[in-house]
Amino acid sequence: MTVSARLLDWYDRSHRPMPWRVPPDLIKRGVRPDPYRVWLSEIMLQQTTVATVTDYFVKFTLLWPTVQQLSDALEEDILKAWAGLGYYSRARNLKKCAGQVVHMHGGRFPETAVELQKLPGIGPYTAAAIAAIAFSEPVPVVDGNVERVVSRMRRISTPPALAKRQISSEVARLIPLGRPGDFAQAMMDLGATICTPRNPSCTVCPVSYACGAHLDGNPQAYPVKVLRKAAPRRVGAVFVATNSKGEVLLRKRRNTGLLAGMSEAPTTNWSAQIDGATGPEAAPISADWRRCGSVRHVFTHFELELVVFHAEIDRSPPDGHWWSADHGAEALPTLMKKAISAALA
Ligand code: ADE
Repeated sequence: MTVSARLLDWYDRSHRPMPWRVPPDLIKRGVRPDPYRVWLSEIMLQQTTVATVTDYFVKFTLLWPTVQQLSDALEEDILKAWAGLGYYSRARNLKKCAGQVVHMHGGRFPETAVELQKLPGIGPYTAAAIAAIAFSEPVPVVDGNVERVVSRMRRISTPPALAKRQISSEVARLIPLGRPGDFAQAMMDLGATICTPRNPSCTVCPVSYACGAHLDGNPQAYPVKVLRKAAPRRVGAVFVATNSKGEVLLRKRRNTGLLAGMSEAPTTNWSAQIDGATGPEAAPISADWRRCGSVRHVFTHFELELVVFHAEIDRSPPDGHWWSADHGAEALPTLMKKAISAALA
């Protein structure tokens, strides 16, 4: 038996029921899925999980059972029904696409991936999925789950983002003549339920016998990850001044850039791009600054290390205010909490 025959056998027994799916026994008897329902489900599934989409799909198909009815609906009503699904441009494109299907294609969806992709809101992945599932076009349908399955099966040593052509052509070679739509959905289900990112269940996988990564004994070695460049490290200094009451001098940061508008113990002029000064001469007020180690913080694209200085002073600069740890209230960034703790330790 071929890999795809084994996979389809497994799908016949173990497919996940979903309201937009036509079960495999009906597909085998020649029942065709309604392209409108396939399209609607694929648009909803673009950025959203199956679990979330299910209720929305049922609601939409009760409100607007056909593409004609959706095309006649008010955009405002579609947006209302979409509320909570996110990425609202999808809802606006839904109405546009339904309009084009009705007014430019006589109410019938085009039947090939190439033609489907010309419609609003339909990218290459969605076009392939609709063409395979609704029209049995033998095109490769590759989502994140399928990338993982194929990377493992074929021991693809390049990260999926850089191996898209290779993965597509491997999938294309597996597509069975008879049931391209079920094959596409079987691959998705396998990735979602068995060939999972962590701890894949190879012992119950119908195609583990043909899987390179499984045969190597290390399925999680694939897909290969993109090596991220180490985040650059920036340095600076933070000056924690206290008065005789033990209050800490804070000022407000500018309204732009990192930690915009947040309170801080004065720091030197660090940013993601440049280092700030690290010595006591850069302090905003002259005082007997004592060095108390340093604190680190990881931002999205860089790591910051601030040398911490402490001094007792009796006057505040005009742009500062005194803050007492007991009064709480003030929202301090984690970095500042760390610096104040280091200074007062
Ligand atoms: N994700 C996107 N399309 C899907 C489908 N038809 N079945 C399961 N998961 C999906």
